[in-house]
Formats: sequence, C-alpha cells, structure tokens
Amino acid sequence: MIYPLTPENIKKAAALLASGETLAFPTETVYGLGANAFNAEAVAKIFEIKGRPSFNPLIVHLYCETQLQEVIDLNASVAALELLDKIKIFWPGPLSLVLPKNPRIPAVVTAGLDTVAVRFPSHPGARALLEACKFPVAAPSANLSNRVSPTTAQHVLDELGDRVDFILDGGACQVGLESTVLSLVESPPRLLRPGAITLEDLTSHLGKIESGPAPHQQHTPQGLPSPGMLKRHYAPRTKIVLRGQIEPKDYPPKVGLISFGGTSADSNGFTIVTTISHHQDLDEVASKLFGAIHAMDNQNLDLIVVDTCAEKGLGLAIMDRLKRAAA
Ligand code: TXA
Ligand code: MG
Repeated sequence: MIYPLTPENIKKAAALLASGETLAFPTETVYGLGANAFNAEAVAKIFEIKGRPSFNPLIVHLYCETQLQEVIDLNASVAALELLDKIKIFWPGPLSLVLPKNPRIPAVVTAGLDTVAVRFPSHPGARALLEACKFPVAAPSANLSNRVSPTTAQHVLDELGDRVDFILDGGACQVGLESTVLSLVESPPRLLRPGAITLEDLTSHLGKIESGPAPHQQHTPQGLPSPGMLKRHYAPRTKIVLRGQIEPKDYPPKVGLISFGGTSADSNGFTIVTTISHHQDLDEVASKLFGAIHAMDNQNLDLIVVDTCAEKGLGLAIMDRLKRAAA
C-alpha cells in the first residue's frame, strides 16, 4: 500500500524497519527498497524481493556524519579519508562513495566485499525516515533486478505489487537518475556509475578520476568493481533503441518516441510521442526519463525510440542509462 509522507507514517516506517521488515521510500534520485543495514536477515529479504544476484552490493543510507563511523572503517585507509574530506561537500545529495567497510556491516550488504557504498540522501522524506531510524538503511532501487528504477510511489507499486507492503510516498523524484557512485579506495578515484554529481564536479574537487571498470576487470561480471556496471541493465519489457540506431524505414508498426525537444523534434511516423523537455534541458530530461520509459512500456508498443544528448555533464549519466537500456 502507498502511504503519504506524514509524521505518523514516518514513525510507522521506522518501526517496521526496526522490526526487520523492508519497505520502499523516496529519495531525490529514485525510490529505494530499504532494510536495517545492521540486520543481515532483513537485508537478505531485499535480494529476494528484487531477484537481485547476491554478488551485487547495496548502498547504505545515513542521516548524519556521526553515523559514518558505524559504517566505514576509519582506520583502514588514510588516503580514502583524505579524499572523503574533499568531496563530502556534495552531501547530502546524489553521491555514493565507496569506502573501506566497518566490520559491523554484515557481508550480505556488501556482497562480501571489504568496501561499502554510503550516501546521505537530501530528500526531506528520506532524511526524516533515516533520522527516526537512527540505524543506517541499506537500499537498492525499488525495482526488480535489471529493470528501470522507480521515480514515483506508483512505479514501485506497479513493479513490486504485493512483494512490498509499505511504500512511503514522497512524490516524484527530483533528480530521477540513480546516484553517482565513486570509489575512493582506488587511486586515482574511480567513477563506477555517472549521476547528477557529474564527472566535471568530481574532477574539480579531486583532480584526475578514472571512469568505468579497470581494464583487467572488463567483461567478467564477478570481477567488476561495481557489479551494477553490467551492460544490460535498466531494461523495459519493450525493446528500446537510441534515435538513429534503426532507420525509420525499418520501424515496426507501433513505435513510441521519447523526445528531448530541440532540433530533433521531428516526430512523424510515431504512434505516440512523449516530449519530456522542450529545449533539451538535461535536468528535466533526467527527472522525467524513467517515468516516460515506464509509461511507454505499458502501451503495448513494438519499439521505443529515445532521443540522445551529448555525453557531458548530466548527459553522461543520461546516456549511460539509455545505452544500457538499449543494450
Ligand atoms: O540513487 C541511488 O543510489 C539509489 C537510491 C535508492 O539511493 N540506489 C541505488 O541502488 O541505485 P542500486 O542498488 O540500484 O545501485 C547501487 C550501485 C550498484 O551499481 C552497485 O554495484 C554499486 O552501487 N555498489 C554498491 N556497493 C558497492 C561497493 N562496495 N563497491 C562497488 N560498487 C558498489
Ligand atoms: Mg538499481
């Protein structure tokens, strides 16, 4: 069931998490499916609900900096902590940092890795929930594994149905793409997933940053530094292609277009057109993209065509998700 974001429902949600249950809650990026990060059995339920492979670790969500010491190992790496000091100005916000793990965090959370991804969400509903919980909350996106992340409470309900009893409704997610994931345990730091805190933002505070899997780790799922880098991810049921990948003459009968506006506004020959921005405003594109894919996926189309944008700034994250949805 969907519950509005009221003080009583936040209290209820915190009590459910404390008792070892899972539930969906809003963040500024996408909706998360949360469990008490210190409770291995509760966290195991998340993997089961999502059908998530056990080798894909979760992000741990915190309310305040004093909680950080319960989650990361402050003695493990001086270099990582120095980097953390330079980059934590982006907290609270859509940035997850991979740091040495505190032994208190059960192995199921981190898929057995000796590192843990942490973030402080900025969404007021997420913050109120985390404050009420007092314990850290492990949460992946609240979708079935390898599917498009939910950016509304209704998306969560549509996708997870009765697998989740409690969905806290915080409205549509403002960012709309999952958080940036940056590993601070490598030197230079490595961008594992682009997001709204852009590569340019990170570089301006940290200097040189590597991107993607290390060369020796490519193409071996278990060996990837971030299993979420798997090529096929974010896939709707309907086949999806980037604009230009298929010649219009080869389109099947029912084709939907997700348009970013701007110069490529030609929408002839499409069964349905959804314009998510009129002027290629990338913040707007990011915030509405997954919703548009969800909606098109329910239209019984033969194909979804999506506009593209330059791979810089937020465009890097947008194109990352689109390329993987189209893979
Ligand atoms: O915006 C977000 O990050 C959302 C909201 C709910 O916070 N969460 C989210 O979680 O997108 P998820 O599980 O869908 O993606 C987590 C990503 C995966 O790519 C995972 O492999 C990576 O973070 N990750 C988590 N822990 C890691 C670790 N210790 N080392 C490397 N990658 C890690
Ligand atoms: Mg996910």
